[in-house]
Amino acid sequence: MSIKATAVAPANIAFVKYWGARDLVRALPMNRSISMTLRECVTRTTVEHVSGEGADEVFVRTPDGPMAQAGGDFLRRAVEHLERIRSLYGCGGRFRMATENSFPSAAGLASSASGFAALSLAATRAVGVPLEPRELSRLARLSGSGSAARSAFGGYVEWPSGWTDDEDHASALDSAEGWDLRDVIALVELGEKPASSLEGHRRAVTSPHYAARQHELAARLDAVRDAIARRDLTALGPTIEEEAVELHLIAMSSRPPIFYWRPGTLVVLEAVRGLRERGVGAWATMDAGPNVHVICSPQDEEAVARHLATLPEVRRVIRDGVGPGPRLGAEHLF
Ligand code: PMV
Repeated sequence: MSIKATAVAPANIAFVKYWGARDLVRALPMNRSISMTLRECVTRTTVEHVSGEGADEVFVRTPDGPMAQAGGDFLRRAVEHLERIRSLYGCGGRFRMATENSFPSAAGLASSASGFAALSLAATRAVGVPLEPRELSRLARLSGSGSAARSAFGGYVEWPSGWTDDEDHASALDSAEGWDLRDVIALVELGEKPASSLEGHRRAVTSPHYAARQHELAARLDAVRDAIARRDLTALGPTIEEEAVELHLIAMSSRPPIFYWRPGTLVVLEAVRGLRERGVGAWATMDAGPNVHVICSPQDEEAVARHLATLPEVRRVIRDGVGPGPRLGAEHLF
């Protein structure tokens, strides 16, 4: 007998970043983070639970179209997570899974966040275990991708919700309907990034600026929570831009350093400053990658997207915005 389930889970863009962990294996962070869940950048994953012995099978949509057997790090992490689910829920058997992203993977667009949230939801449904969002958040986090904990919720999300063992999951600060913000993503590079976020977390503590960052964070988290509560983009914008630059300052001053930025990253940052000088309310943020997320209001989205698309360094513009949390899908991938 086999049961199949499909889940669609969103990526998210961090306003305050998770960078550095107390426990990297269980993805317990040094600091709290806050993100916006995205509507268009999603992962769709189908998981089938099959009784009997045998290895798990993992397929992934390749950039040129067809599904192919997964390999390397991706396969290892997916199989580890399936094994975790088997052991947590005592379900035995084996899994077949297929997954696809609506956006380029491994370019700092949080594909592991949406990927592990989708995998966690589809696999637990396939074994007949319905999870509350906070349980899904905790399970997604155990994959080792901390930001996946935030992809279990829609809207604006904080993780962890506290410091005790029961509070290691994310929680929602506001819904997607609460505040309609847009994220115009300027892709300046479509290839793999120079170091995984796992490696970035590991090296973060070697930066001489890391301690100073920890000191700044409490006030920054308060400012971001407050701006979300008041729906105040002019308060949110400068704070998230400062925060993103600081993440990269830590990466660039880690030992050995990691440079996620590419020349195109600086061109987009400059263009965003130019837009602001012309009265457009747009602020930039970047995760561990070269691409730039430009946060703005619905009224300014068109102007931002049109301007960024004219820059020769920008390969592609994705128009995204705040969106809902994970859901089950009727359309299976196999
Ligand atoms: O969830 P991880 O281990 O892939 O780390 C995410 C790191 C950042 O994207 C840079 C920041 C964040 O909070 O999403």
